[in-house]
Amino acid sequence: MKRMSPWLLLVAFIVSVNCFADSDSAALFKSKCAMCHGPDGTGSTMGQKLGVKSYKSPDIKKQSDADLKNSITNGKGKMPAYKSLTPEQVDGLVKYVRELGK
Ligand code: HEC
Repeated sequence: MKRMSPWLLLVAFIVSVNCFADSDSAALFKSKCAMCHGPDGTGSTMGQKLGVKSYKSPDIKKQSDADLKNSITNGKGKMPAYKSLTPEQVDGLVKYVRELGK
C-alpha cells in the first residue's frame, strides 16, 4: 500500500493540472460561474434571483466580446469581479458563453 502513494500523488497532480489548464473553459465555467449562470447558461435559481439573464437572450447576444470581458473582469450589478483570471481565461470564458448562447 505504501508503494502506491507516489503514483497516486502523480495521478492527482496530472488531474489537477488538467483542470486548471487555460483551455479548459468548460471546467472553469462549471467551477466558478455555473452556480449562478447554470450549466447551460440560462441561469440557476439563485442566479435568477440575483438578476442573471440567459446567455441566449438578445441582451447578451447584442453585446460585444469586449463588453462581456469587461463584465467578467470587473463584475456587473450583483455579479462579482473576477480579477484573478488571466486574459486567456477570460477570452476562453467569453467563447464558452457565446457557445452556450447559441
Ligand atoms: C454570484 C453569482 C454570479 C457568479 C458566480 C457569476 N455571475 Fe455572471 N452575472 C451575475 C449576475 C447577477 C449578472 C447580471 C448583471 C447585471 O446585468 O446586472 C451576471 C452577468 C454576466 C454576464 C453578462 C454581462 C452583461 O452585460 O449582462 C456575463 C458574460 C457573465 N455574467 C459571465 C460570468 C462568468 C464567465 C462567470 C464565472 C467566471 C460568472 N459570470 C460568475 C451573477 C454571477
